[in-house]
Amino acid sequence: MKTIAIANQKGGVGKTTLCRELSACCALRGYQVLVLDCDPQGNLTQSWLDSDVYEATLSHVLIEPETTGGIKAEPLPLDDAIVESPLGNLDIVPADIRLARFEMQPDYLTHRMRNQLKEHGTAYDFIFIDCPPQLGKLLTTALYAADYVIVPCASDAMGLQGLSDLAYTIGQVRKNVNSELKMLGAVINLYKPQRNLSAQSRQAVEEAISLVGHVFDTNLHDYSKIAEAPSQKLPVVLYAKTHRAADQMWSLTDEVLDRLQISRQKLSAVKGR
Ligand SMILES: Nc1ncnc2c1ncn2[C@@H]1O[C@H](COP(=O)(O)OP(=O)(O)O)[C@@H](O)[C@H]1O
Ligand SMILES: [Mg+2]
Repeated sequence: MKTIAIANQKGGVGKTTLCRELSACCALRGYQVLVLDCDPQGNLTQSWLDSDVYEATLSHVLIEPETTGGIKAEPLPLDDAIVESPLGNLDIVPADIRLARFEMQPDYLTHRMRNQLKEHGTAYDFIFIDCPPQLGKLLTTALYAADYVIVPCASDAMGLQGLSDLAYTIGQVRKNVNSELKMLGAVINLYKPQRNLSAQSRQAVEEAISLVGHVFDTNLHDYSKIAEAPSQKLPVVLYAKTHRAADQMWSLTDEVLDRLQISRQKLSAVKGR
């Protein structure tokens, strides 16, 4: 079980997209994959599931229910909130706006995600966590539960703002709660090769991230196919199989698996590209 958080406190940089597409590619390569939607906006959940196919969400797992009649109810075990996605090998723990309440919960609950994954996540080869666009308790919880972080960065000057704050947060989590947390790398997203700025961006991202790690060679270009795929409840590698967007997603998946020193295809897999 390898747990990978996709994090950046900036919104709109491609966290949900990357989490969705990388997890789908790993599932298509034959791995058993679980995705935790850790953003109260629930974008990842909505990209796979209709709201009538689940009731329990991550907030039911992480937040203690109100005490009623003097009886203290326990939060649900993670198992009870896992839902199958339409893609084989890929399960989801959904989220909705109720997860926002987690920011007001007592600090000891930050351990719960990690503990629940240890107890219920062992059947999965990979667990991906889609983090919220803020530096708060939910992000700390996710980073505490994770083995690795991948940071998507939008390929423009604005997209680079706040990277040092994120590096600081990752450093604090390492120092205080999870010394094992590793930076797997940054992904340059929404890349527009025709703009000079992007070449500068790559250099700037590399400089900003050099304190903590590596920048993946594959840049994800700004392709409308990537934005359209969720509306069909498909990963882009199936929605637009022969498009450059699919090639880029597969090569990023290869890079991620190589850096984790994991085979590009689960050896027992019958499914594949
Ligand atoms: N490489 C890309 N090409 C085209 N659209 C993209 C790409 N990456 C992300 N998007 C789109 O940009 C928007 C923001 O991406 P999202 O993954 O939701 O960001 P975040 O989770 O960081 O807020 C979404 O509409 C998404 O479809
Ligand atoms: Mg998102």
